[in-house]
Amino acid sequence: LRVGILFGGKSAEHEVSLQSAKNVIDALDQDKYEVVLIGIDKQGSWLLNDTSQFLLNSQNPQLIKLNQSNDSVTLVPQGGGALTHLTTNQADTALDVVFPILHGPYGEDGTVQGLLKLAGVPFVGSGILGAAVGMDKEMMKRLLRDADLPVGPFLVFRAHQVNPNFADVAGKLGLPLFVKPANLGSSVGVNKVTNEEEFRHAVADAFQYDRKILVEAFIEGREIECSVLGNDDPIASVPGEVIATHEFYSYEAKYIDENGAALEIPAKVSAETARAVQDLAVKVFTTLGCEGLARVDFFLCPDGELVVNEVNTMPGFTSISMYPRLWEESGIPYAELIDRLIRLAIE
Ligand code: DAL
Ligand code: MG
Repeated sequence: LRVGILFGGKSAEHEVSLQSAKNVIDALDQDKYEVVLIGIDKQGSWLLNDTSQFLLNSQNPQLIKLNQSNDSVTLVPQGGGALTHLTTNQADTALDVVFPILHGPYGEDGTVQGLLKLAGVPFVGSGILGAAVGMDKEMMKRLLRDADLPVGPFLVFRAHQVNPNFADVAGKLGLPLFVKPANLGSSVGVNKVTNEEEFRHAVADAFQYDRKILVEAFIEGREIECSVLGNDDPIASVPGEVIATHEFYSYEAKYIDENGAALEIPAKVSAETARAVQDLAVKVFTTLGCEGLARVDFFLCPDGELVVNEVNTMPGFTSISMYPRLWEESGIPYAELIDRLIRLAIE
């Protein structure tokens, strides 16, 4: 099988994607798969170079031809940027499947999924709808709330409105608060605030990444995560726990500070709680229309209640990432996991 690995991307999670992609590429069985690397630089240009060239510099964006034998699919013009030409030739699709290892907007949010669907190329993970609602924290929470699944209290603000008033927000949600861009991941642009000045900075920071932001109530609880795998009848892994040494599980704690967080795999929870986490993870997955894979993140409150924090439709595959490690612990080794994901994409 010819597998296109799409990686990098325009979002603030570009570097995380590079790390994820490296791990997936290493795990692909070279006897079974022919790997075609398609790097996307931070400006959004698509490059058919090898990883190292792409990582070093992307001087000269080239045409990406998904079908290299007869030029039947041309996705991005020279110089990158706008999509100008797209044709498909059913008879000979050069790539059998694409693994879009892209995190955040322009990759994990339905955009690339729409492009691949239009081009008629099967791909790993959620389709347009699941990816889009999984990326938008407001839409995700609304859908979960509608399905009577537990989410925390939140407020939404848009860039064209007057800035949110701290006293009002704190009156409604209490303190501390979390301020987040609606569409992003890896805790980029996320801040925990306890006073008005911090709140002002946090709002400005979040608006740098999105025109819509969420303010969430602080939820006291252990951070429990669960991996889901499948399409119509998905399965859930053993739960894991994130034990953050920072103020919260921030970008720094995740990827920069080696001692920023420890993962407890499996999480030290009762069998009953583990089952509740797995049940809820699958419900979240199906409610949001996810496909292939997702990692569902929870808070386990002191009274035993579970609250859904978020879903990640293309969870990290970095060396510290929870998604593949939870499957390893559940009896699915890394290479087999990648195999299964590819099979789920083309089944
Ligand atoms: N958004 C990052 C990649 C994650 O969920 O692991
Ligand atoms: Mg996320």
